[in-house]
Amino acid sequence: MELPPRLRIAIEELLHGVPLAELQGAAARLSQRYRAELRDGKLHLSDETAVKAYLAARMPATFAAIRASFSMLEDTLAEFEPRTMLDVGSGPGTALWAAKQCWPTLSNATMLEASPSAARIGRALASQLVDIAPIWLEADASKALEAVADSDLVTLCYVLDELPPQSSQPLVLQLWALTRSVLVIVEPGTPAGWRRILEARAALVDAGAHIAAPCPHHADCALMAPDWCHFSRRVARSRVHRMTKNAEVPWEDEKYIFIAASRTAPNLPVSRVIAPPLQQKGRLELKLCEPDGHFAFRTISKKDGEAYREARRADWGDGLDITSQ
Ligand SMILES: C[S@@+](CC[C@H](N)C(=O)[O-])C[C@H]1O[C@@H](n2cnc3c(N)ncnc32)[C@H](O)[C@@H]1O
Repeated sequence: MELPPRLRIAIEELLHGVPLAELQGAAARLSQRYRAELRDGKLHLSDETAVKAYLAARMPATFAAIRASFSMLEDTLAEFEPRTMLDVGSGPGTALWAAKQCWPTLSNATMLEASPSAARIGRALASQLVDIAPIWLEADASKALEAVADSDLVTLCYVLDELPPQSSQPLVLQLWALTRSVLVIVEPGTPAGWRRILEARAALVDAGAHIAAPCPHHADCALMAPDWCHFSRRVARSRVHRMTKNAEVPWEDEKYIFIAASRTAPNLPVSRVIAPPLQQKGRLELKLCEPDGHFAFRTISKKDGEAYREARRADWGDGLDITSQ
């Protein structure tokens, strides 16, 4: 997956002339802070150099993960066409770009971001979007949400891991109260990210939400540590992306996990593929999340006819109309 061309060009222009060593140093510091899930009272994207490093090293991957989450949601809520959006912890506006690409109907957006440097760069990038002029609020979500109007689509992407754990659930419920149709929460596809999504999911189910994706059920998740649910998106690395990360390979795999909660009942698939399918000659092995909340391995061979033909096209993350029975 690649960034939309207008966004890619706008990022290249913003990064033009920034010394490579500065970008590399800031990207390394960001990566350490994210890995350590450091909560020292400072925002990770506290200054312009950190935001520019994020544009080069992280935004292509978070865009790919958010866009892939929206695609799964499109499959289960085909009639969803949001006009308004609220994005909390917007950073440089990643979720807005992904939402506008997925739903061109989107015409109003409120972007809430605590870091003035991130908001300034997000605003500059968003000026390249057509048919939408988002409002940027530079404020902390814990203080500013009371004055914010509700929206068709509400998003919180790669933010929960920056918040004090005790503030996550109140924020999720506050965002659900501001959601007219769908709330999407995306996190890194790590065991810790999955646990945060499970907590958000439980709070949303208790609040009466329909789970629209990725789970094909509303039961408790049956996966147990050391296993965890996540998906992956391959991201093309631009030249500046490669140079910033000192990387040789022209792509990387972004692991992510998300939950989409809806006010209306989704059209859920029977099962979802929750690991890369294993292909052998004439045989496929799939790990499926099933309608009763359990997961199971299913081997499908050519003898299974139509089910085999359907399963052969399936990728990690796809919904399927077959179960392990
Ligand atoms: C990892 S970035 C994610 C940016 C964007 N959502 C994305 O997915 O690429 C997290 C963002 O959340 C912002 N943030 C963290 N805590 C916040 C809070 N309490 N209120 C508003 N924004 C916050 C940070 O400043 C940062 O820009």
